[in-house]
Amino acid sequence: MAIERTLSIIKPDATARNITGKIIAKLEEAGLRIIAQKRIRWSKAEAEAFYAVHRERPFFNDLVAFMTSGPIVVQVLEGENAVAKNREVMGATNPANAAPGTIRREFAENIERNSVHGSDSAENAAAEIAQVFKPEELVG
Ligand code: PPS
Repeated sequence: MAIERTLSIIKPDATARNITGKIIAKLEEAGLRIIAQKRIRWSKAEAEAFYAVHRERPFFNDLVAFMTSGPIVVQVLEGENAVAKNREVMGATNPANAAPGTIRREFAENIERNSVHGSDSAENAAAEIAQVFKPEELVG
């Protein structure tokens, strides 16, 4: 299986509740290694650029408002099949549909305040990582 990298974001609902460590423990228990991490706060323009693919969707403005409402923790995760493995440990977008033991089932508040983001393909992961980190910030 290929060693991959994926972008993970711990969202403002989770930083507000001081549960970043609990989420990181789940990621590490799944075998994902954090090779870059920083706590930042996005501007509206940064969040709009990151979520540009969703700009026509009805929740776009709400999503941007939420993602700029407080600090986020952005991470690059590395491991075998990291994109799919991270999506598995995150659970479904809507926590009501997320499997037991997943991050969203345990910690998410609702479909908007769903605690984590994970890239959905290796190709998108590379683009998202480049949006958030400089190459020298990745320490594998
Ligand atoms: S996914 O993960 O891309 O397949 O999920 P998707 O359903 O396409 O949702 C894309 C992102 O939009 C967020 N989302 C919402 N935000 C606010 N309100 C509503 N109703 C809503 N529905 C979906 C969802 O959490 C995804 O954010 P990210 O950061 O990519 O996980």
